[in-house]
Amino acid sequence: MDAPLDLVIFGGAGDLSWRKLLPALYMAHVHERLPRDTRIIGIGRHGWDRQAYVDFVDRSARTVMADAFQNEAWTAFLARLDFVSMDATEAAGYARLAPCCRPGSTKVFYLATAPGLFAQICGRLHEAGLIDPQARVVLEKPLGHDLSSARAINEAVACYFDERQVYRIDHYLGKETVQNLMVLRFGNAIFEPLWRAPHIQSVQITVAETVGVGTRAGFYDQTGALRDMVQNHLLQLLCIVAMEPPISLDPDDVRDEKLKVLRSLCRMDLHDVRQDTVRGQYSAGVVEGQAVTGYCQESGVPAASGTETFVALRAQVRNARWAGVPFFLRTGKRLPQRRSDIIIDYADPPFSIFADQRDAPHANRLVISLQPEESIELQMMAKEPGSGMKLRPAFLKLDLQSAFSERRAEAYERLLVDVIKGRLTHFMRRDELEAAWQWIDPILEAWQQLGEQPHPYPAGSWGPIGASALLARAPLRGAEAP
Ligand code: BG6
Repeated sequence: MDAPLDLVIFGGAGDLSWRKLLPALYMAHVHERLPRDTRIIGIGRHGWDRQAYVDFVDRSARTVMADAFQNEAWTAFLARLDFVSMDATEAAGYARLAPCCRPGSTKVFYLATAPGLFAQICGRLHEAGLIDPQARVVLEKPLGHDLSSARAINEAVACYFDERQVYRIDHYLGKETVQNLMVLRFGNAIFEPLWRAPHIQSVQITVAETVGVGTRAGFYDQTGALRDMVQNHLLQLLCIVAMEPPISLDPDDVRDEKLKVLRSLCRMDLHDVRQDTVRGQYSAGVVEGQAVTGYCQESGVPAASGTETFVALRAQVRNARWAGVPFFLRTGKRLPQRRSDIIIDYADPPFSIFADQRDAPHANRLVISLQPEESIELQMMAKEPGSGMKLRPAFLKLDLQSAFSERRAEAYERLLVDVIKGRLTHFMRRDELEAAWQWIDPILEAWQQLGEQPHPYPAGSWGPIGASALLARAPLRGAEAP
């Protein structure tokens, strides 16, 4: 039988908790994926008792559940909750937390707080005798602001937890379609022989959002799109697209391969950053038929903020598989559609016997849509009916939503269940995280040195003009040594 579980959430009344974590835990509860004897202990500074916390969760988290809400299951779920009102930096609170964690239970500490508190929380948990070899700690992003702050957090956490106890969350790794990418690549034989230069001409990874900065201005203005999205989500997608086949699905086998990709990324110097990156910031515009304000007019954003809400960049993976193939990464807020996809543009046939094809777009293109649609589409050239040999693109499409009728768990539910089961494959290892920062840092530094303001783009457009120009530019040169 499973050991009882005590799941302690620091930041238990914060946005992430009621919007994502508690609804995900509720779904895991409904589908009997939590150990029978699970307690969820919220930690926060509100002077609440247990009942006040339960009332808060009942009011807030319930609103996000829509169809999934069932009265009886919800009541049983709420019975699992507890709350300890405390300041996470002070020892006194931990003395009250300790008796809430049962002897012999598996303890999971979810740190959904500012990363500046991670080291202190781990130290206090240790002093209170709460960390045993079965305990786990989950670290929410952003893990640091740059390489040195990320290292400092990792080092502090490592004083109290072994690496096998540390779960660095990137919720993109919990998405069904992102996990499916591994199956597409390694569970099918037809793609692999062509999954490389010179058969692939370019790879485009886009994570587009329609939302603006919302209520997170304080955090976002200090962070920007490069740190918020590229350093983690987009680089993780790039890793899965570019990595060599791991020898197994064991956490270290997969993470070793991802690490190699990150280490093969060509570091950008000032010249590359000027040429191969575009920073943007949304100005007023119209998104999905609604007029919206510009970033600098959002509440809580300084009027002359220089924070980017859009990034496009061209990256290069220097290894034998990818020499000369550009990887275009693009993400932004207030774009015309919420859409995440990966486009693999295959090389054109080396010689065309079809005169009409000369100006055609790429003959073959694989489009992997991650959200909101979940599909895989392969563009092929076909003959247009009629006389003559006129070519026209046609599509082979796999719609994953209709191919599989099973329930799709949200990313957080899947990842929380992985933490409970002790499965680390879909979490970032320390060296992986640091390698990602190692590549991001020079870009941040170069932007600072160049002192350029982000280019404005109207909300509802696809970003500054420079971003399309980046895509249109000639492919990279071949494989020179780094
Ligand atoms: C978060 C970012 O990690 O991911 C947010 O901090 C962003 O700014 C969000 O909106 C996007 O996640 P999803 O799952 O909605 O694509």
